[in-house]
Amino acid sequence: MGNEHYFTSQPTSKSAAHKITAKLRGKEYQFITEAGVFSRSRVDQGTRLLIEALPLPPEGRMLDLGCGYGPVGIVAAKEEPNLEVVMVDINQRAVEVAAINARLNGAANIDIRQGDGFSVVPEKDFALIASNPPIRAGKQVVYPLMAAAKEHLAPGGLLCVVIRTKQGARSLEKHLASIYSRVETIAKGGGYRVFAATV
Ligand SMILES: C[S@@+](CC[C@H](N)C(=O)[O-])C[C@H]1O[C@@H](n2cnc3c(N)ncnc32)[C@H](O)[C@@H]1O
Repeated sequence: MGNEHYFTSQPTSKSAAHKITAKLRGKEYQFITEAGVFSRSRVDQGTRLLIEALPLPPEGRMLDLGCGYGPVGIVAAKEEPNLEVVMVDINQRAVEVAAINARLNGAANIDIRQGDGFSVVPEKDFALIASNPPIRAGKQVVYPLMAAAKEHLAPGGLLCVVIRTKQGARSLEKHLASIYSRVETIAKGGGYRVFAATV
């Protein structure tokens, strides 16, 4: 990836598609990954913890916020075929491989969009919003996304976020607690935490 950040909207690094496999929630998945896309050599450990911990609703709408090549939304869509999964990422190349990966894994209940956060996500009835947020982009990007998520959740909806414990988990937890009615740690391990914040 060189000096290019994974949260660039139009990566200029040379394309280098690569196929990885991963067992998630007991099933095998294949993902095409790309240069300039987050965690291209394996499913990130934090992402894995998030996927295993997600309380998936059986139906309704779910958002994978900052989907990268798509592991969170694709596993959710495969686990719950009646769930309508929306996936969004600012990175054009991530969105392209996420669309390929949805087909590769036979997940049809997915709608993938490219754009900056909620600018392309008008729906306000998500039962679940899940994210491994772009911490490296800084609090000025991540915190407003966490706040905006609340406006897009249905009553009783849940925001689930994974973060590396040493990359500001405590301050993120405090930030969430200042916005949401309840914040719980639903998983921890390998230096990561998953927070679930209720509207
Ligand atoms: C830590 S990565 C997680 C990617 C993927 N969910 C995974 O777990 O492998 C965060 C993602 O957020 C995306 N991102 C950064 N800023 C964004 C924004 N303003 N709106 C949407 N996506 C954004 C990045 O391009 C990146 O793909």
